[in-house]
Amino acid sequence: MTDPFYITTPIYYVNAKPHLGHTYTTIVTDVARRFHAMKGAETYLLTGTDEHGDKIVKAAEQNGQSPREYVDRISQMFADLWPELNISSDHFIRTTDASHIAVVIDILQKIYDKGDIYYSEYEGLYCFGCERFFNERELVDGKCPDHGTPPEVIKESNYFFKMSRYQQWLIDTLKENPDRIRPERYRNEVLSFLKEPLEDLCISRPKSRLQWGITLPFDDRYVTYVWFDALINYISALGYPDGALFKKFWPHAHHVVAKDILKPHGIYWPTMLKAAGIDVYKHLMVHGYWNVEDSKMSKSLGNVVDPIYLKETYSTDAIRYFLMREMVFGLDSGFSESAIINRINSDLANDLGNLFSRVLGMFHKYFKSTVPHYDPAVQNDFQLDLRADAETVISDYCTAMENFEFHKALASVWEYIGKMNKYVDVTAPWELAKKKDAKKQLDTVICNLLEGLRVVSGLIYPVMPETAATMQKHLGMDPDRPFYRIAEIREWPQIPANRVLPKAVSLFPRIDPETILKPEAGPEESVSTLPVEPEIGFDDFSKIDLRAATVIHAENIPKADKLLRLEIDLGDHTRTIVAGIAKFYRPEELLGKRIVVLANLKPAKLMGVESRGMLLAAVEKDACSVAVLDRDIPAGTRLK
Ligand code: MSP
Repeated sequence: MTDPFYITTPIYYVNAKPHLGHTYTTIVTDVARRFHAMKGAETYLLTGTDEHGDKIVKAAEQNGQSPREYVDRISQMFADLWPELNISSDHFIRTTDASHIAVVIDILQKIYDKGDIYYSEYEGLYCFGCERFFNERELVDGKCPDHGTPPEVIKESNYFFKMSRYQQWLIDTLKENPDRIRPERYRNEVLSFLKEPLEDLCISRPKSRLQWGITLPFDDRYVTYVWFDALINYISALGYPDGALFKKFWPHAHHVVAKDILKPHGIYWPTMLKAAGIDVYKHLMVHGYWNVEDSKMSKSLGNVVDPIYLKETYSTDAIRYFLMREMVFGLDSGFSESAIINRINSDLANDLGNLFSRVLGMFHKYFKSTVPHYDPAVQNDFQLDLRADAETVISDYCTAMENFEFHKALASVWEYIGKMNKYVDVTAPWELAKKKDAKKQLDTVICNLLEGLRVVSGLIYPVMPETAATMQKHLGMDPDRPFYRIAEIREWPQIPANRVLPKAVSLFPRIDPETILKPEAGPEESVSTLPVEPEIGFDDFSKIDLRAATVIHAENIPKADKLLRLEIDLGDHTRTIVAGIAKFYRPEELLGKRIVVLANLKPAKLMGVESRGMLLAAVEKDACSVAVLDRDIPAGTRLK
């Protein structure tokens, strides 16, 4: 019996929409899950969103939405993205789900009753970006290593989890289970962190500072620290404590995360589980970062890559292949579109695509689309044995996939593709077809090649399910089978004699880098008269607070012939702005107009008058037109 297989992604913060970094981790889990299903395991994939905490409240404010509206919107973006990339989760958890909240409360109470949570005053260095306290050792030049900002000194009473109590136990368990955290470098990182005394973990935030969280069951003046809440998702999703899913899958839990969140997963989470009397997860698999021009792809650096753009430009399978082939799991990788194009052209179009059309082309030509009879007794005179090589590649592939060495697994399949191409060259079926006495040999050669393609299609399925299905359809295999088990892939031959196969298609057309990477040149004049500003993402745009406002008073400013002083109504308050449009507008022309104002511009004094915001207008040397809203809308409404 194959063990069940439970795999999780981190639950992503909803302070930004999904990008390629999140996509990579989630595709890894999908690939691993599909592979384990091929081994015959019952599988369960969990992903979701992390929705509480200060970060989210701030992002909601910046977007002019309530936390609830905001988290619903962004969480939906994550939930909608995964199926687009052929990732299907068994459950999409949100930390605002009532069932999750109930489990967090239950675990808090359990650990509190056990005496592992205590109340104390604490003064420490707090990074608001990370939403946690730092000790001096963790800072780089006195700054948070992730945000590059100095933490603030905060003094307050809070609840603490006695993490220090489990330090020795954690060291022992990591030593007894050397593969609990993989690859090894990350296990070593955790062990080296544990060489210093572990501090207790502050697990509460006073409601005076933050309300958007789960209220502590033993003190309603506090909400739960977002990490203590979030980590519990991995068991609340399975219906801890009594759910059948929990019982079946928890002993086989594999968490996949990037190195940024090694500490919460490598230290907080196992000690929390231990304190609550729950077994520790089986494996923590840690990968590196996707970097763009040597910096980590992240929202704060503004260098994020949009997965939907990639899908639409290159296809889902090509992107999944690129991500799995290019990154060595555990190490950082550089992302660039030219690297994607190289992979598509060389690995997919050239190696795989050519082999597929070459073999099927010969098959249709020499056999009139009907599979010949495979006769294992026919001697192979060519000293190349695709069947024996298939055995080897299947074993290498399985070992690599078990170890999350996706690049190796794919490399071994491509090595086999190389062998198949060589087999075609050496056996030269076009020569056999000319000889009268070589019919049986030609049958065997073509059958071997069809079988080899079948093996390739079976092995690429976890990474490229669509391509595997297309190949299998053209090899005459059952179109309703989602995948073949490893044991079935090993069976050779499988494609029945006399089956009529449909004509082949091109799997991956070559991509001309010029058409994608070169920006389209517009007409000369439009380029020169309309300089294009650098592109910004929605996140940058969302920092701009544009509001509808009504002009309720307007006047000239003495001694300032270009300026008008406007009193504007913003719904819940009025304010003064100064606009440099006096040459174009008389004050009374503006009265009552519903204008657009940049409301979060830093205040500035112009000719002694403080301006709090800026009106929007299209301005040229000799002309100006103030932007007005064409329909009735309450003053203060945000423009998005
Ligand atoms: N909400 C926490 C996780 C709680 S899990 C109980 C969180 N969220 S996050 O939105 O910041 O996601 C971090 C994860 O996104 C990383 O661990 C990784 O899986 C993925 N990635 C984000 N940026 C990435 C790269 N540039 N490269 C690779 N993976 C990246 O942390």
